[in-house]
Amino acid sequence: MANLQESTRPGYDAVARALHWLTVLLIAMQFMIGWTMPDVQKDTQPIGLIAWHLGVGATLIVVILLRVIWRLTHRPTPDDLPPFFSIASRVTHLLLYATLVLVPLLGWINASSRGWTVRLLGLVPYPALSAPGSAFGHKMGDLHGILAWVLFALIGLHVAAALFHRLVLRDHVLQRMLPHAGPSRQSARNR
Ligand code: HEM
Ligand code: HEM
Repeated sequence: MANLQESTRPGYDAVARALHWLTVLLIAMQFMIGWTMPDVQKDTQPIGLIAWHLGVGATLIVVILLRVIWRLTHRPTPDDLPPFFSIASRVTHLLLYATLVLVPLLGWINASSRGWTVRLLGLVPYPALSAPGSAFGHKMGDLHGILAWVLFALIGLHVAAALFHRLVLRDHVLQRMLPHAGPSRQSARNR
């Protein structure tokens, strides 16, 4: 049970933390499905794993939108790190957000160009972002696959940094994104 009020707790609030870990889960699913689903050809139907990729993707789009809105309206408490670490983390987070928006958007554009409708929970249709058969939509599909690798590399860097903070610097950066467990975390950096 947390001793500090949620509003005065250092780090990220409960909604930001929930959205962060929900994104992690959905993105892990998207990579696993994206890399195991059959190659998408001209007359491929959106069934099986491809339907799962579109379905999970539709949910992910909503979660990322909510996350960006929440982040713009709710700032975490400052991290209290030396300038190098603080700037490096801001730059990585910004690049993560950029790819988190771009990768799904490009996938959605590509789905539209194949004449596939993206639906939230199989029910609510999203508008088409490109015309069926469009060359632009096709190119965006290639870019989707390439940028997914960029996102993967950024995630690797981000997770390595989180572990570096936890295991080498032994500060409280990781706890900023974890459920609160005790009263000792008054400072974001406690060495
Ligand atoms: C961060 C989220 C996502 C990740 C990590 C991801 C990852 C991937 C990967 C790895 C592939 C295979 C690429 C290849 O082998 O060339 C792929 C293909 C595809 N994805 Fe995603 N995806 C994401 C979100 C979405 C969303 C939201 C949609 C649509 C609503 C989508 C639609 C597609 C489509 C249509 C393809 C086939 C593209 C093609 O081969 O031309 N993806 N995705
Ligand atoms: C799909 C994988 C992941 C993505 C896309 C992701 C994305 C992000 C983003 C965009 C932020 C910035 C939050 C903000 O300022 O609004 C963040 C923060 C954070 N993430 Fe992740 N993350 C992922 C996985 C992880 C994992 C596996 C860990 C732990 C090992 C982790 C630990 C953290 C921590 C500790 C912060 C807060 C850093 C700080 O206090 O400045 N993340 N993450």
